[in-house]
Amino acid sequence: MNREITMKALIYHGPNLLALEEKPKPTIIDATDAIVRITTTTICGTDLHILKGDVPSVSDGRVLGHEGVGVIEAVGKRVENFSVGDKVLISLITSCGRCSYCKKGMYSHCRIGGWLLGNSIDGTQAEYVRIPFADTGLFLLSPEVDEEAAVMLSCILPTGLECGALSGQVKPGDSVAIVGAGPVGLAALLAVQLYSPARIIMIDLDDHRLAVARSLGATEVINSSDGTAAKQVMALTHETGVDVVIEAVGIAATFAICQEIIAPGGHIANVGVHGTPVELHLEKLWAANITLTTRLVDAGSTPMLLGMVQSGRIAAKKLVSHRFALQDIIKAYDTFANGAKEQAIKVIIKGDVQ
Ligand SMILES: NC(=O)c1ccc[n+]([C@@H]2O[C@H](COP(=O)([O-])OP(=O)(O)OC[C@H]3O[C@@H](n4cnc5c(N)ncnc54)[C@H](O)[C@@H]3O)[C@@H](O)[C@H]2O)c1
Ligand SMILES: [Zn+2]
Ligand SMILES: [Zn+2]
Repeated sequence: MNREITMKALIYHGPNLLALEEKPKPTIIDATDAIVRITTTTICGTDLHILKGDVPSVSDGRVLGHEGVGVIEAVGKRVENFSVGDKVLISLITSCGRCSYCKKGMYSHCRIGGWLLGNSIDGTQAEYVRIPFADTGLFLLSPEVDEEAAVMLSCILPTGLECGALSGQVKPGDSVAIVGAGPVGLAALLAVQLYSPARIIMIDLDDHRLAVARSLGATEVINSSDGTAAKQVMALTHETGVDVVIEAVGIAATFAICQEIIAPGGHIANVGVHGTPVELHLEKLWAANITLTTRLVDAGSTPMLLGMVQSGRIAAKKLVSHRFALQDIIKAYDTFANGAKEQAIKVIIKGDVQ
């Protein structure tokens, strides 16, 4: 193959089938596109859901990945905010900025955009990616920015803030539980602390992730492997439950825990991507004045979060546990998917240095 026109990319071939392959480099299709050379990318829990077959919109042949930092290689004629050579953060959300949903700030529901990267168009786990609507989907980074910290802003930090802390309406003094201490649960842990809750209880099956949660500000941690997590939260809260519970796993068992531990008047903020139905226990909750929210991250908070990561107010880099070259991305997937055994949180994949 001619390396001038081809690149390495991680391709999805159906449930549990991944391959690093050579394929044509992307080119500008629309005048609002940019082509970005990826210098840093990473893997999301959502990619693991895709691999399980939970996200049917992802078809055979798709380049995965919706997180990345890189350098602009080419811009279309109507890209105004960026030039070749700029270092940029890629948002997972593509938005036209003009449709009725974009005007409401619901960028994830943009009528011609939304979560496209690594879903319905080729994504960032490659040497190059095409970014539609580059003016709204990219953010300028200073050349000296820490790329590993910055790439936490492509997906997990806006998700933790918007789908977790904001949807959950966390207030000063609240009791909060977060079910799932993966990168997204930990990002929610960082985000809820901006609203000064009195206590934050983290629940997971993995003691290493729970130890990381404690170091990042959890006041209590519970390993739920023995099936008593809900009972333990109730005991910790004098049988009242918590004001806010954030679901950051995406399975029926963890959604059930959320319903068991929510206090009257509380908020259940679902963040997890669910591939199968869950039970909603209205026979118990109908009188409990609870609010249940679902949300696909809009990433409207990205510029604000970028400022907080750059000033050190949010310790994004602490989520990084492993580093791989793009050549070894299959190993990176294995490491991330076996997070407990490998003591992995966020695995960084470096593009080839040029
Ligand atoms: N709503 C959105 O816009 C959005 C955006 C990004 C990610 N997500 C979703 O957020 C979720 C978390 O993402 P992640 O990257 O942290 O994933 P991850 O797979 O790394 O983490 C999931 C965590 O859940 C824990 N877990 C699994 N079963 C459990 C159980 N029974 N009890 C307690 N803990 C359990 C695992 O040990 C792991 O630490 C995923 O479902 C992902 O798809 C949603
Ligand atoms: Zn993600
Ligand atoms: Zn739009």
